[in-house]
Amino acid sequence: MSKTLTEQFAKKLIAWHQRSGRSGLPWQNQRDPYAVWVSEVMLQQTQVATVLERYPRFMKRFPTVRKLAAADVDEVLAEWAGLGYYSRARNLHACAQQVVNEFAGKFPNDPVLLEQLKGIGRSTAGAIAAFAFHERAPILDANVKRILARLFAEEGSLQEKAVNDRLWALANSLLPSKAEDMPVYTQALMDFGATWCTSRKPVCLSGEQRCPFLKECQANLSDQVLLFPQKNIKAKSPEFDCDMLLLRSGNSVLLQKRPSKAIWGGLWSLPESSWRKKSAPGLSPEQLLEMALPQEKASELVKLCKNLKQGESIKHVFTHRRLWMHIWGADLAKPFPPSTVDLKWVLLSQLGHYGLPQPIKVLLQKLSLVRGDGLKN
Ligand code: ADE
Repeated sequence: MSKTLTEQFAKKLIAWHQRSGRSGLPWQNQRDPYAVWVSEVMLQQTQVATVLERYPRFMKRFPTVRKLAAADVDEVLAEWAGLGYYSRARNLHACAQQVVNEFAGKFPNDPVLLEQLKGIGRSTAGAIAAFAFHERAPILDANVKRILARLFAEEGSLQEKAVNDRLWALANSLLPSKAEDMPVYTQALMDFGATWCTSRKPVCLSGEQRCPFLKECQANLSDQVLLFPQKNIKAKSPEFDCDMLLLRSGNSVLLQKRPSKAIWGGLWSLPESSWRKKSAPGLSPEQLLEMALPQEKASELVKLCKNLKQGESIKHVFTHRRLWMHIWGADLAKPFPPSTVDLKWVLLSQLGHYGLPQPIKVLLQKLSLVRGDGLKN
């Protein structure tokens, strides 16, 4: 590690902030730990422009930690409406109660204690300690990890604990020596990551030689800025197969309402088999009919769907799994009356009135276009 960079970093960053950082935001220059905490939690996953509007409103509604702790959690959730990531609101409420019950209504100034409170991670604990108490505590959110990984060409994936440990140690070594500089330094670090050392368009790649760390940044010196931090190596999510029935009769298609707790809960989809691990043996047409429509009489169904044939396969990627949907189609001379209310023959022209999973909507859209039916969104 370059000794001069370690010594100069905080000074240069603060100087940068005076020229180019964000100032005048309502949560800045705050020493009330409650106000700092609320703003940090709101800023975690919400854009500054939205926080500018919602933060004063929240503080007006719950001006103190005691008021927040005494509120009903539903009132807090209602005030949070529209900001997303609602566990933040539930945690805010629970944390307020912890502060009132365990710390007599006063936030602790030690980041180690702050981190033990509900919803406060190590970096947020550092930010509260730095802003409200001028503690020499580092922060290390995703933006700061990127800055440090570039400055020091830190190799290795951010998923690795050892890499994170090294970055925390670096973050600690770069802190300004004077505690009174902690608020401006912490804000500068946040602003530099959010506006200059950005993930895809860092200022150093704009052609202008404006970044104050051009000559020290190891990633810049080796012309590899976008290679840091190293991308997480994502473990591939498990893959499944499932068969779906696309039964048509004239201009109608058979849809099934999905159980409310399942994936795509409550939407109308095609009747489907259960999922099986990719490359487990497939089903015969008879097995599929029986599995996807267990309420119907199997022998009748087999007769009605004599021409059942496997057609296209569609891949759909969920957050934690990948699904191959194999579409089996058949044209029925006449629709059979469904035995349960979750099955329904729907005119292609009426599909726009049904909530459909996106890939099924696309599939049926193609079908209705081929047949000249309109399918509105
Ligand atoms: N993101 C998290 N904390 C922030 C802050 N104090 N200012 C701007 N963006 C932030």
